[in-house]
Amino acid sequence: MLDTASNRPELPPEIARRRTFAIISHPDAGKTTLTEKFLLFGGAIQMAGQVRAKGEARRTRSDFMQMEKDRGISVSASAMSFDFGKYRFNLVDTPGHSDFSEDTYRTLTAVDAAVMVIDGAKGVESQTQKLFEVCRLRDLPILTFCNKMDRESRDTFEIIDEIQENLAIDVTPASWPIGVGRDFLGAYDMINDRLELMDRADRNKVAESIKLEGLDDPKLAEHVPAEMLEQLREEVEMARELLPPLDAQAVLEGHLTPIWFGSAINSFGVKELMEGIGRLAPEPQPTRAEPREIAPEEKKVSGFVFKVQANMDPKHRDRVAFLRLSSGHFQRGMKLTHVRTKKPMAISNPVLFLASDRELAEEAWAGDIIGIPNHGQLRIGDTLTEGEAIKVTGIPSFAPELLQSCRAGDPMKAKHLEKALMQFAEEGAAKVFKPAFGSGFIVGVVGALQFEVLGSRIELEYGLPVRFEASQFTSARWVHGKKDDVDKFVNANKQHIAHDNDGDVVYMTRLQWDIDRVVRDNPEITLSSTKEMM
Ligand code: G4P
Repeated sequence: MLDTASNRPELPPEIARRRTFAIISHPDAGKTTLTEKFLLFGGAIQMAGQVRAKGEARRTRSDFMQMEKDRGISVSASAMSFDFGKYRFNLVDTPGHSDFSEDTYRTLTAVDAAVMVIDGAKGVESQTQKLFEVCRLRDLPILTFCNKMDRESRDTFEIIDEIQENLAIDVTPASWPIGVGRDFLGAYDMINDRLELMDRADRNKVAESIKLEGLDDPKLAEHVPAEMLEQLREEVEMARELLPPLDAQAVLEGHLTPIWFGSAINSFGVKELMEGIGRLAPEPQPTRAEPREIAPEEKKVSGFVFKVQANMDPKHRDRVAFLRLSSGHFQRGMKLTHVRTKKPMAISNPVLFLASDRELAEEAWAGDIIGIPNHGQLRIGDTLTEGEAIKVTGIPSFAPELLQSCRAGDPMKAKHLEKALMQFAEEGAAKVFKPAFGSGFIVGVVGALQFEVLGSRIELEYGLPVRFEASQFTSARWVHGKKDDVDKFVNANKQHIAHDNDGDVVYMTRLQWDIDRVVRDNPEITLSSTKEMM
C-alpha cells in the first residue's frame, strides 16, 4: 500500500513520521473510548479506564466546574503524543460540546487530518456534519471510523451512501463488516486481505488477524459460517464494483474518505485505523502565512498559538499557550521572536503532552504541539519565529451568536471585572465589547452554556460575583475600511459602536435590517462576522 511518508523525501525523518490529527464526532459516538484505545495501543496508558472520566459529551454544568478545578487533566487531554510503530501521533483534542465550536474550529487549524467517528446505528449526526464542513474548508484529509458495530447498526451500504450524500465526499471501504449486532464477527480487511475477528471476551485485546489470499481463501470458511460468508462475498464484490477504490492522493486532497468498521469498546478495528492514519494521513503540511508560506522542513523554527488556557493554577495565574510547530527542530531554551510585539522570548520550560502526564519538552519537531507557560504575552493567533516577520493566517474568530451585558455584583469592582473579562477574551473563551456609550461590558459567546461557565470561573478564579443580563444588542459585526472612513462611520453611529478586546471597531444592533441598511448606505466600509485573530 502507498505510504504517504515516502511522498516527500525532502522532509527530515523525524518530521516525516509525525501525524497530527483531531477526532471529530457527535457527542456519544465514541470519541473518548476511541481516544483511550489509541493511547492504550500507543503505549501511553497501561490500562483502559484512565481517560473515561474525561468524556466531554455528558458533561453537565457541575462537571465543567469540576473540570475547571481539575485543569491539569483537561490540559493534558488537549494534545496527546504517543508512538505507534514507526509513527509519532499527535492527537489534538476537540471539545465535544457544541457550545465550544469556536474553540473546535481553531483546533482544526492545528492539525493535518481528522478522524471522523460515527455511530453505526445513527449515521451522520448534526455535530459531525458541522465539524466536517470546517474540515472541508481546509481540505483536511478525513478518515472515517464507523463505531459500535457490536450493536444493531444500519446496513453497510446505507451508511456509506449517507456519508456520500450528506457530506458530498466519496467513500471507499477499508474494511467490510461481517454480521451485525449480536452476530457481529469482525471484518474483512479490504486493504490487506485479512480476516479480523473480534474478541468479545477481552475488551482490551486486539482482534485475531488471519492473513488470507483473497475472499476465496478456504481459511475463511473455518471462521465464518457459510451463510455469512456468502453474504460477505456478495457485498464485497458489489462494493468493489460500485464504490471507488482506495486512492491515497484523493484521500490527501480530501475528496475520498476510507471507512473502517469497528467497535472501539471492544478494541476492534482500532489498530487497523491507526495503521491507516500512519499510512494515509499526511505528514506535517505547510502552514499558510503572510508574506509567505512556511514549509515544515525549513531549518528555522516557527509556530503559532491556536489555543490558550488560563488559570490552570489559580494561585499563580499562569497560562499555557498551545503552539503548533510549523517548521524546524525546536530545542528547549531556544529564543524565539514573538512576531506581534517583536520581542524575544526564551522558551525555557515548554511542555509536551504525553497522554496522562505533562513532561518537559527537551525537543520537538514540526507537527508537534508544545505548551508554553506564560503570563499573558501569548495570544491565540500569535506567531513565533527565529526572527523573521512572518504571520500565520487563517485562524478564525467568529462573531458571537449570543450577547449579554455583564456587571460586577459590587459596582466598585468594575476594574477587576474588566481584567477578568479581558483574560477570558484572550483565552478565546468569549468576546468582550466595551460600548462607546454607557458603562459595563457586553460579552459575546457562541453557545449559551458559556455564560454559565464564565460566570462561575470569574467567581472562582477572581472571587468576583457577576450578573449576566439581556443586552440591548443581539448582533455584532466587525467594521473594516480605510481609517478615515471607519472614523466617520463611528462618529455617525456612536450609539451602535463598541470596541472589542483588541480595540477593533464593532457595529452592534438588534436588527438584521440595520446591518443591511449599513451595508447598503456605506459602500466604503464592510461589516464582517469573522475576523482573523491577531
Ligand atoms: P463520546 O466521547 O464521543 O461522547 O463517546 P464515549 O466514548 O463516551 O462513548 C459513548 C457511549 O458509547 C459510552 O457508553 C461508551 O461506553 C459507548 N461505546 C463506545 N464505543 C462503543 C462500542 O464500540 N460499542 C458499544 N456498544 N458501545 C460503545 P455509556 O453507557 O454512555 O458510558 P459508560 O457507562 O460505558 O461509561
